[in-house]
Amino acid sequence: MILPIYLYGQPVLREVAKDISADYPNLKELITNMFETMYNADGIGLAAPQIGLAIRLFVIDLEPLAEDNPKYTGFKKVFINPQIVEETGELVKMEEGCLSIPGINEIVERQEQIRIQYFDENFVSHDEVYNDFFARCIQHEYDHIEGKLFVDHISGIRKQLVKGKLNNMIKGKTNCHYKVKPVQSKN
Ligand code: NI
Repeated sequence: MILPIYLYGQPVLREVAKDISADYPNLKELITNMFETMYNADGIGLAAPQIGLAIRLFVIDLEPLAEDNPKYTGFKKVFINPQIVEETGELVKMEEGCLSIPGINEIVERQEQIRIQYFDENFVSHDEVYNDFFARCIQHEYDHIEGKLFVDHISGIRKQLVKGKLNNMIKGKTNCHYKVKPVQSKN
């Protein structure tokens, strides 16, 4: 089932999400719905707060990028109760976007390597190291469950420029091809 994606300004996007247990109601179905919602919006990552749930869960599927770069083949993962325990390496700049902030893309600086502990969809625990674009995607989704958004990382003149667009988004002035839940509706 395709769920509406909560847009910038929705309070749930600013909550620090809570851990869940293995008996969280309809977890399998929720994960399936999150992937379906993400694919429908042409995204490669989606966090639970983006569908209105302040729980520590996000999904990533980099398969759409595998056509141009085989290293992304089969990278489809579910992260439950994740904790980034270490961030290391150089600060790397790269453009990011977000399904909750459609139409805005900005350069974000992040450290190139992370170590993350999490449970997968079967509640098997993992302790893994990721770098480069894998790390960036995880860091972006991880921000969501910490109540942060990629626009928080922008500073100076760019922040001012983005502010106007974000204010319009709060007023419901957004065009996207997928189902959304803005703070105020257009009608
Ligand atoms: Ni996002």
